[in-house]
Amino acid sequence: MLRLVDLCKSYRVGPIRVDVLQGVNLEVNQGDLLSIMGASGCGKSTLMNIIGLLDQPTSGSYLLEGREVSTINDDELSRIRNASIGFVFQSFHLLPRLTAQENVALPLVYRRLGDKEIGQRSQAVLEKVGMQDRAAHKPNELSGGQQQRVAIARALIGEPSILLADEPTGALDPRIGQEIMRIFLRLNAEEGLTVIVITHDRAIAQQCIRQTRISDGVLHEEAPQHG
Ligand SMILES: Nc1ncnc2c1ncn2[C@@H]1O[C@H](COP(=O)(O)OP(=O)(O)O)[C@@H](O)[C@H]1O
Ligand SMILES: [Mg+2]
Repeated sequence: MLRLVDLCKSYRVGPIRVDVLQGVNLEVNQGDLLSIMGASGCGKSTLMNIIGLLDQPTSGSYLLEGREVSTINDDELSRIRNASIGFVFQSFHLLPRLTAQENVALPLVYRRLGDKEIGQRSQAVLEKVGMQDRAAHKPNELSGGQQQRVAIARALIGEPSILLADEPTGALDPRIGQEIMRIFLRLNAEEGLTVIVITHDRAIAQQCIRQTRISDGVLHEEAPQHG
């Protein structure tokens, strides 16, 4: 579904150029469950932002469903991003004044859907993450793990074809982080959702079917582990 070929990304900070990604090659197929590990600052979020169409590479090729992303204009990129990519972040990014249900429904407000359909779909995704009984709660009335479940429901409501999770368990206790990981495992196994999990927790990464690591600006895939 997506392919990166010799992808590079540099940032310019004043007179200094920082070469973060220096030739990343990666192919992700529908139904993949893939982890990306690597030291802090190695470029994991940079890569996720490029895959998620939030940022453009400096050079190299990004083919999404066979189309070269650099040839797609900003309006269409936003449309594709809203329709097919779900994001989950370390710090949840929920709006504090909205209830869980309202946070989850937000991505649909930009689509022309009726209140009834929005209500039904919000309820359905909250059920998928076990949060149907907390729909009326505001984020500050929820634990970190519960907030992350709501954030996952929000990422799912648009029926994305790929879920990008940037350190989704990084702010949670290991036991709670594992519950979040179990949601990703289930979505991948039962619904065939393509999931990319960025993590620096080896125990989380090892539960993914494909495991990769970024070092020195390059992404390496680790051999599948048996047994
Ligand atoms: N907008 C930016 N401008 C300049 N440098 C940046 C920018 N975003 C990230 N960087 C730098 O790029 C490197 C990789 O950052 P990042 O992708 O966030 O790493 P990671 O997510 O692996 O911790 C870091 O050295 C960071 O300081
Ligand atoms: Mg990061």
